Amino acid sequence: MTDIQKIILDTDPGIDDAMAFFQAIGDPKIDLVGITTIFGNVTVDIATRNAFRLCNMVGQNIPVARGAAQPLEWKGFSPSSQVHGDEGFGDIPPVPVTGTPQDMPADAYLVDICAKNPGEITICAVGPLTNLALALQRDPNIVKTVKRVVVMGGAYQTNGNISAHAEANTYNDPHAAAAVFSADWQVIMVGLDVTDTILCTEKDFAEIARIAPRTGGFIQDMSHFYLEFYRSVEKLDGCSLHDPAAVIACAYPEWFTMENAHIDVVLQGEQWGNTIESKNAGTTPTRVCTGVQIETVKRHFIETFKVYV
Ligand code: BDR
Ligand code: CA
Repeated sequence: MTDIQKIILDTDPGIDDAMAFFQAIGDPKIDLVGITTIFGNVTVDIATRNAFRLCNMVGQNIPVARGAAQPLEWKGFSPSSQVHGDEGFGDIPPVPVTGTPQDMPADAYLVDICAKNPGEITICAVGPLTNLALALQRDPNIVKTVKRVVVMGGAYQTNGNISAHAEANTYNDPHAAAAVFSADWQVIMVGLDVTDTILCTEKDFAEIARIAPRTGGFIQDMSHFYLEFYRSVEKLDGCSLHDPAAVIACAYPEWFTMENAHIDVVLQGEQWGNTIESKNAGTTPTRVCTGVQIETVKRHFIETFKVYV
C-alpha cells in the first residue's frame, strides 16, 4: 500500500489519548513511527509513563520522546484530573512500565525525524501545542520538512469545553497554539466543531471490549470515569471522540468537511485560548474541520479494535 501515513503522535495520555494510540497502532493506513509527550491531562512525567504503558500493552518498541512540562509563558496551568483521573487513565491504577525516553527532548526529536524523512511525517498533536512551538523555535525549517500537522484542538464556530469559549488544548498553551496556527505549514484543525458531534456511549465501549477484551477492555475500564464526567458536568449520555478523530483525519481526510481560514488564538481576557478567524492573511491557511461523517468515523474507530483480538 502506498498511502500509509507515517505519524508522530504528540500526546498527553489521557483517556481519549489512549484511544487515539490504539487507533494509530491498529489502523491499516497508519504507521505510528514515534510518540512525543506533553503536559496537559496529566503532568509530562505521568504522560510519558502512560505512553510507555500503552506501548508495552501492544508489545511495540516505539520511540518515545519526553516533551515540555509547562506552557511557553502561562504560569497558571494545572492537569485535568477531574476529566482523566489523577493518573490519566480514569481510576485505573498505574503499573510499572518498561522503556527509556529518547536522549533528546520532544521538540528536538520532531525536528530530527522530519529532517531525516522530508515530506513524509505527519505530526498529529492531541495535547497542548508547546512541543510543536518549541520545534518551530529550534528549527523554523521544520515547516518545510514536515508533511503536515493535524491538531486536535480549538473551537471555531462552537463553544469551548474548558471555558465557555476555549477548547482545553489551545487553552492550556495559547501562545504555543498561536505559533502553530500562524506558521507557514499545512495545519488541519480537528476541533470541537467536529469532535463534539461524535459521541461514544457505554454501549460503544462494551462493543469495543467485546471485540478486543484486552486493549478494548482497558479502554472500557477507563471510559467509566470519562463517561461519568460527561454525565455529571456536561449532562450528556456519552463522551466526545476527540483525539481518535484527529488520528483518523490523518489517514481519511475525505471523511471531514474542511474550510480554509487563518486562525488567531486569543491571548487575554475571557476568550483566553479561543481560536478565531484572523484578519491577517499571509501564511498557509489552516484547513478547519467544520463537518464530519459521524457514523463512518465512529464505526471505523470501533472496528479498528478487530486487529487486537
Ligand atoms: C482535548 O483535551 C484533552 O482533555 C483531551 O485529551 C483532548 O486532547 C479535548 O478538548
Ligand atoms: Ca489529548
